[in-house]
Amino acid sequence: MEREYNMREIKNHSDNEIVNPTSNRTMQDVVRVAASRRKIIQGGISLAAGFMASKSAWGQRTPIIPFNPGLIGFTPLSRAEATGSWPTISSDYEFEILIPWGDPLLPDGPSFSYPPDAENQAKQIGIGHDGMWFFPDADDPEAGNRRGMLAVNHEFGTNSHVLGKDDPDSLADVRVSQHAHGVSVVGIEREDGVWRVYSACAARRIHVNTTVTFSGPAAGSELLQTLNGNSPQGILNNCGCGSTPWGTYLTCEENFQGYFGVPSGRRWTASTAQERYGFSEGGFGYSWHEFDKRFDLSWTAYRNEENRFGWVVEIDPYNAGQRPVKRTALGRFKHESVAVVVGKDRRVVAYMGDDQQFDYIYKFVSSEDHVKLRHEGESPFDHGKLYVARFNDDFTGDWLELTIDDSRLSSNFSSQAEVLTYARLAADELGATPMDRPEWTAAAPDGTIYCACTNNSARTATDAANPQAPNADGHIIRWVDDDMHVGTSFEWDIFKLASSTHGTEESFSDPDSIYVDPDGRLFIGTDGGQQDGMNNQLLVADTVSGTVKRLFAGVFDDEVTGITMTPNRRTMFVNLQHVGNGNINRTSFPGMGDYRVPRDATIVITRKDGGIVGS
Ligand code: FEO
Ligand code: CA
Ligand code: CA
Repeated sequence: MEREYNMREIKNHSDNEIVNPTSNRTMQDVVRVAASRRKIIQGGISLAAGFMASKSAWGQRTPIIPFNPGLIGFTPLSRAEATGSWPTISSDYEFEILIPWGDPLLPDGPSFSYPPDAENQAKQIGIGHDGMWFFPDADDPEAGNRRGMLAVNHEFGTNSHVLGKDDPDSLADVRVSQHAHGVSVVGIEREDGVWRVYSACAARRIHVNTTVTFSGPAAGSELLQTLNGNSPQGILNNCGCGSTPWGTYLTCEENFQGYFGVPSGRRWTASTAQERYGFSEGGFGYSWHEFDKRFDLSWTAYRNEENRFGWVVEIDPYNAGQRPVKRTALGRFKHESVAVVVGKDRRVVAYMGDDQQFDYIYKFVSSEDHVKLRHEGESPFDHGKLYVARFNDDFTGDWLELTIDDSRLSSNFSSQAEVLTYARLAADELGATPMDRPEWTAAAPDGTIYCACTNNSARTATDAANPQAPNADGHIIRWVDDDMHVGTSFEWDIFKLASSTHGTEESFSDPDSIYVDPDGRLFIGTDGGQQDGMNNQLLVADTVSGTVKRLFAGVFDDEVTGITMTPNRRTMFVNLQHVGNGNINRTSFPGMGDYRVPRDATIVITRKDGGIVGS
């Protein structure tokens, strides 16, 4: 049964709530939608092949070579093997475990103890390993395959997992929880055949109390100021990620609303915007608001503090002194991940999902050549346009610009800063297409963009882009933008309905984290109840033939996420999140250090014959 035991879904439950009150749910003609579904399902391979062929000439990128049986040639992990309290992997592969929660950020740092101490936790790897990116050592290309900085998101850890109790008893407890969230930037290297942490001067922890800064159109807005004038601090619920052509890390704030709440006995009425972003009196049950007024929605002096979360944050992985920058031009919503490509005129383009039932897909396009802007000392992410997607039933789509110059927005919003801070409400006005929980976006080498729509149990009316109601298992949609990513229209199709794999050896549900390698292999990490008693898994898909194979499976009650590789693609890193939901009776993973609690960790995957991972 799906999600019966998935604590991820319980604690971050608001993904599965509907906070979009609009009627942007296009009520399609049943016959037309049924025809669309037939076209997608029956014509899957030929449609996909034709789609790729027709598009391969429009960019300078290498086109994906049509059907290649050797592309994913490995022996797949069977369904029967994909279960248990310990990870399992294809017989052609092996794995090792790296940087579990609580390990020191530097080799001589404080070692793990349970429950953690707040001061130590700020010098240790956080929990809830999610999106991550490997930044190879730049000294020489070969060294970059053995050493680099790994930037890792720490999305969340429940109080019961982190503190060993459901509620904090003090501000010190809250600080432990806050320091376990955020990002680790950690130096890793391969020595004597084993990956380990080394003493990197750029290593750092960024958490909920780290000083940050804002840039872009909303940076000076009063919507980001509080009455008591506290300076911006912290990143929160960092889920998926991205990286930039200039070598920085992008971390995405997703379910930030769940950390705010109202202490018992205090009065609070949600504003329209707070409702649209899902704020509630109880939040997710972290109870930070009981001891830290910054997270108390009823505390007037901290009004607008909540507007400081929900952004894409840029981090320099090689400069520990850099202040993380929240890029407001990319809009405020429940950011899952960000797929960055260089488009026409070297403009930088970012594709992003807002993970909530019936929420939207966005893209940002920089105003100019990103190299020119950076030479002028400007960030390409501070100057540009934000769009939201409308998927039409004829397999075309439109990017609708979120601009205060649009009369539909100027009649409801006072400035571009307000449009960006309440991007969800602005997108509601423009008639964007409500999607089935858009999780990660990923760019293929031919310019095709993929997005994992993980599931939507609340959908009752289908449209062509969300063709199942309810959508228990999710699907992966893809599109190609006109005008090399900078246009306002696109063509799309559905790459895979997860339900279509049920009862087969390639069975999977709830696609979430995705990554496309330079050969066009689509890696899929899942998060949700899998069929046949399987744990969450890592699969590899051939984007031309649609063939899917299972490479790896995690442990009971976890999630597989955060896919990144070394430049030579001989080493892949993935993350296991909320292993056993923190319950030692479900798994003792990673079986090192303190055996009272399971610990989220990174998995290092290599082929036994040293080949490209995924092949
Ligand atoms: Fe953090 Fe939508 O997954
Ligand atoms: Ca996710
Ligand atoms: Ca998910």
